[in-house]
Amino acid sequence: MKNTEVRNAFVNYFKKNGHTHVASSSLIPENDPTLLFTNAGMNQFKNCFLGLEKRDYTKAVTSQKCVRAGGKHNDLDNVGFTARHHTFFEMLGNFSFGDYFKKDAIHYAWEFLTVELKIPKDKLYVTVFLDDDEAADIWHKQEGVPKDRIFRLGEKDNFWRMGDVGPCGPCSEIFYDHGPDFGKIADPFESIKAGEDRYVEIWNLVFMQFEETAPGQMTPLPKPSVDTGSGFERLTAAVQDCWNNYNTDLFQEIIKTGLAKANSKLDYNEMMKWERANIKTLNSGAALSTEQKQKFEDLTAVRVLADHCRSTSFLLADGALPSNEGRGYVLRRIMRRAIRYGRKISTEKSLLLPMAEALIVAMGDFYPELKQRKDAILSTIRDEEARFLQTLDNGTVIFHDEIKKLKAANSKTISGETIFKLYDTYGFPVDLTALMAAELGFAVDEAGFEKVMQASKEKAKSSWKAKSLQADEKHVIEFGQKHSSQPTKFIGYDHLVAKSKVIALSNGSKEVASLKAGETGYAILDTTPFYAEGGGQVGDHGLLLSTNVDAKVHDCVKQGSVFLHQIEVITGELKLNETVNAHVESKERRQTASNHSATHLMHSALRIVLGTHVTQAGSLVDSSKTRFDFTHNKPLTAEEIKKIEELVNTEISHAHTVKVENMGHKAAIDKGAMALFGEKYGDEVRVLTMGQPVLAANEKPFSIELCGGTHVHNTAEIRAFKITSESGVSAGVRRIEAITGDAVIELFMKNTEEVKQARQATGLASDKSIVEWIEAKKEEVKDLQKQIKKAQSGQINVDEIAKTAQTFAGDAKYVFADLALDDREVLSQINDQLKNKIQKGVVIVMGSGEATHPVIISVTKDLTSQYQAGTLLKDFAQVLGGKGGGRPDFAQGAVPDRSKIKEANQVVYTKLGIK
Ligand code: ALA
Repeated sequence: MKNTEVRNAFVNYFKKNGHTHVASSSLIPENDPTLLFTNAGMNQFKNCFLGLEKRDYTKAVTSQKCVRAGGKHNDLDNVGFTARHHTFFEMLGNFSFGDYFKKDAIHYAWEFLTVELKIPKDKLYVTVFLDDDEAADIWHKQEGVPKDRIFRLGEKDNFWRMGDVGPCGPCSEIFYDHGPDFGKIADPFESIKAGEDRYVEIWNLVFMQFEETAPGQMTPLPKPSVDTGSGFERLTAAVQDCWNNYNTDLFQEIIKTGLAKANSKLDYNEMMKWERANIKTLNSGAALSTEQKQKFEDLTAVRVLADHCRSTSFLLADGALPSNEGRGYVLRRIMRRAIRYGRKISTEKSLLLPMAEALIVAMGDFYPELKQRKDAILSTIRDEEARFLQTLDNGTVIFHDEIKKLKAANSKTISGETIFKLYDTYGFPVDLTALMAAELGFAVDEAGFEKVMQASKEKAKSSWKAKSLQADEKHVIEFGQKHSSQPTKFIGYDHLVAKSKVIALSNGSKEVASLKAGETGYAILDTTPFYAEGGGQVGDHGLLLSTNVDAKVHDCVKQGSVFLHQIEVITGELKLNETVNAHVESKERRQTASNHSATHLMHSALRIVLGTHVTQAGSLVDSSKTRFDFTHNKPLTAEEIKKIEELVNTEISHAHTVKVENMGHKAAIDKGAMALFGEKYGDEVRVLTMGQPVLAANEKPFSIELCGGTHVHNTAEIRAFKITSESGVSAGVRRIEAITGDAVIELFMKNTEEVKQARQATGLASDKSIVEWIEAKKEEVKDLQKQIKKAQSGQINVDEIAKTAQTFAGDAKYVFADLALDDREVLSQINDQLKNKIQKGVVIVMGSGEATHPVIISVTKDLTSQYQAGTLLKDFAQVLGGKGGGRPDFAQGAVPDRSKIKEANQVVYTKLGIK
């Protein structure tokens, strides 16, 4: 069976048994600050288990994208070293939300494995939670699993939690036996406990019974439910009789294509064969020969690359970008580990890139976001690789220097300072340094690194773990969740006013029955015209009015399916259950809509002008502007900016009707809609189209995007579009700010007025260019400045100053001039004139500036063997707190302090021997 057939068989089996097929959610969890990445199939159903959200089905089946590379479930360090761990994997799962429980869950799993997939029963073992006799009985009596194949395990293995808090419960796991060659321990239970590769967990059935509200505090769930997870890669390995997940067709294709494209000499078929023949030695822990070691390292490297290329590509497809904080940092760690492994086996060509290309081909049909984001995925990998390779070699030298030092000192631990230096200067993620150290038998002082890191300013930003919710934030989230069984009805696409009932109130730290004048807090309404911040668009502002109350709405945010209106009561009292008139500020809303629609047009224009690698990396749309971040690795030229403006303005002038449709997510993607990261791939999505295809039937409209925001009805309402700034945000990410509508008109009026006034001031005829006029004037000013300088130097009485000269070393003269000028050119001319007067000697000319004062020293050529201008200047300037330098005959500098000129001269006297 091919991997795609295994996936389809799973989905179809559960569909046949009344389950609704739900699409995988994004890897970037929406609205869940407790989670780094989606790490299990049940994440998107968390609120269904908690009884907070109702859907129109009680049984579901999914194939969920998961990443376990940080947070509670972290498999990063095992990848490549075991046969079964991945940072990215697909979790096949069936779910019951208060529908069936243990009996059916066990039956479905057993029937699917042994009947549908025809896995021999004698290859399977099961585990149950310590005292779960009920589950053990079902396995034995209902399914006929012999008692000696049912083991009991404790909390660590058979009690499943998503994170520190959330739904949880006892679980039962199914293990597949790959055969005696793959473990050292003969007893199945002992081998399972030891985590050997022989017995591999292929399915986890979680009997969801509790909500953990704080660590250790369990509350029973409203209805017992079922959450299961079967690792797709492990299941495919069992079906394809591969003892190692990386030998299934899921990985072979990626690895082989990658190696071939990089012209690598490594042959994966040979590598697999070699490993199989030597598996006993490799598993025995015995010392390996140099050749064996090399082969094992190569094999590990290609597997790590294949794994990391999957997590990298899927995370990039869901909108994550490598960075130095939070999720982006985890992605960067994965990418840089992969790049280094790649570099070890292929010094010439990138391996990550061709592997990612092969992956997109292999999995792009089932996960179309890969195809859709292909250019962005590949260009981000290319950029990150180029950036890291620039510092990899230097960092590696520093690393090996440190190892040498440690060896000399007989130490085995790399210091926190070195780890930090490698991290901060050379971009080595900590675990990469740890990995390189481990390869040579060294450890890293991670605690020491943390200390240094904390001391550095970056600390706060880079630690995801450190980010804990404030008490109030926590209350607000709970407040929203508590009322999520009554989702807010949003009518703001068509209405700006509504009669709304207040169904809950909070003062920001607790739930209340009313808010009085002067108080602030949050209100939940049954129906609202207020748009809640989302998709880059800010929340609406406005008013809640009734005969009793007058309240301002400062913002509106979404908490799951509930809208929280951030309010300030101005007069009267806002009470629970009261009906109010909710008014959205309409002018602001209109401008925001205009900016938002223009953002879609600009997004398409950017892709036309710069290329399809351009992907949205963040946006902020409000009533005054749109700010749009996107992936592109160099500044835009004036020409490009102009083209983008022209394209957008043309679409505005075409007065397209903006079409809004609701459709299935897949249908939208098939239509070519751009889906932005962070979007929940729910069944129904809102698709916004601007510009109809006019030429060929397969031509796409100018813009088609999934979007929940508020928009104009016709592009003509935008009126005009102007880019006001373009800048860099971080490596590979650019930012454009732009305005539309009234703001463009205002800017145009202001600029036109300014030009008019400028024309009047210059007296230029209307056919003459102001720019040329300014250039000509600049030249004139330069000429005048030159003339002024000449005049200034002419006014100084050089003869008089020369008379103050002191004689030294026979016939040489020292002359010092203190002048009230700060133009170095003039001072230098005077220095020259004085030098000509004295013929032989030293001249110091000091000026007077604002913050510092210029000093210029010259020494006639015949004396430079005894007295150097540079040295004299250093001594002179030092007394006045300044510095400078130059040639033996000429030097200049600047000093901040004029109060010790006498003392400074005294130093020169001493040097020259003047008494
Ligand atoms: N949520 C369970 C797991 O991830 C099924 O193992």
